[in-house]
Amino acid sequence: MTTGPILAVESSCDETGIAIVEDGRRILSNVVASQVAMHAASGGIVPEVAARAHLRWIVPTLDEAWAAAGVTWNDIEAVAVTEGPGLAGSLLVGINFAKTLAYVHGKPLVPVNHLEGHLYAAWLADETRELPEPIFPLVALIVSGGHTFLVEMRDHLQYRLLGETVDDAAGEAFDKVGRLLGLPYPGGPEIMKAAATATNHDVVFPRAWLGETFDFSFSGLKTAARRTIATETDGTGTSIGETALSPDRVAELAYGFQESVIDVLVTKTLRAALAAGARSIVLGGGVAANRVLRDRLAAGAAASGIPLVVPRPSLCTDNGAMIGAAGARRMEAGARAGLDLDARPSLPLARR
Ligand code: KG4
Ligand code: ZN
Repeated sequence: MTTGPILAVESSCDETGIAIVEDGRRILSNVVASQVAMHAASGGIVPEVAARAHLRWIVPTLDEAWAAAGVTWNDIEAVAVTEGPGLAGSLLVGINFAKTLAYVHGKPLVPVNHLEGHLYAAWLADETRELPEPIFPLVALIVSGGHTFLVEMRDHLQYRLLGETVDDAAGEAFDKVGRLLGLPYPGGPEIMKAAATATNHDVVFPRAWLGETFDFSFSGLKTAARRTIATETDGTGTSIGETALSPDRVAELAYGFQESVIDVLVTKTLRAALAAGARSIVLGGGVAANRVLRDRLAAGAAASGIPLVVPRPSLCTDNGAMIGAAGARRMEAGARAGLDLDARPSLPLARR
């Protein structure tokens, strides 16, 4: 695939991302302004606060990405932007910004599905290590704050949904249990850090297998964690930065929780890959930044003789480069949006 540099805009949740990506693979620049510290103070995302922060940071983010890439508007082939899924107010900031840039500079506007962006992050070249290009047919596990699903791809932009969460997303479960344990927002990276310090691995939480399906469920696990924590704190529970549990106990509970989530994710992904005759496995989405998940799936994939492709952690969490990677494919397939492009907060990737 050969496309000139694409300017890509991502603003679906709490990261303002702008990147310039060539050929859907080569990152010329990728700048992310994170609102994590701001939302940590409130213990989670307040949608209107997120939208205002995008508005505040989107121009400085573009300036930085532009300066780092060393391109001119003559070089830019198209403007790609996340149209959904995500928070409506946040999406609208990026969409309106991208529309204005496309209009003023006379460039095509390419709408991108955020989940397709998480998938196509696997095609981004990585200067830090040798990363094989995914080979079809493949099975991809996408695990983020809002979504958890397994999808089969037999070619570019072709998806068959194999299974998805029937309740919470994996990242959402990490964030909720992190909060119950008194850890800062977002809970995912905090649980990973705490779990790594656990010396006692006796805590075992339930796993929701849901029979032979490729669906996931994390609400029962969350309830089990909540019950255990309530019992151990005489029902007083915990609040952010303040807990009746000792740091050792927090680490043990974090370990037990993380094991339960990862066991189900890895087992189902390997089973799906074998059933589909996959020649690669792709892992993506914010939870794919989790080292234990990456290592466990890599070991399982190697044992099954199927190469695993996982972007580096900074390309697993929300960023503009992944939108540039998917945007190049979409542009090549002829996708174009008019100036009437609107946010699609519930846009699905694929249906069964
Ligand atoms: O993909 P993402 O950046 O945003 C969405 O599209 O949702 O994913 C964010 C999610 C959050 O729930 C966060 O807790 C989780 O990814 N996450 C992690 C880790 N880093 C981020 N979960 C587990 N371990 C991590 N290291
Ligand atoms: Zn995401």
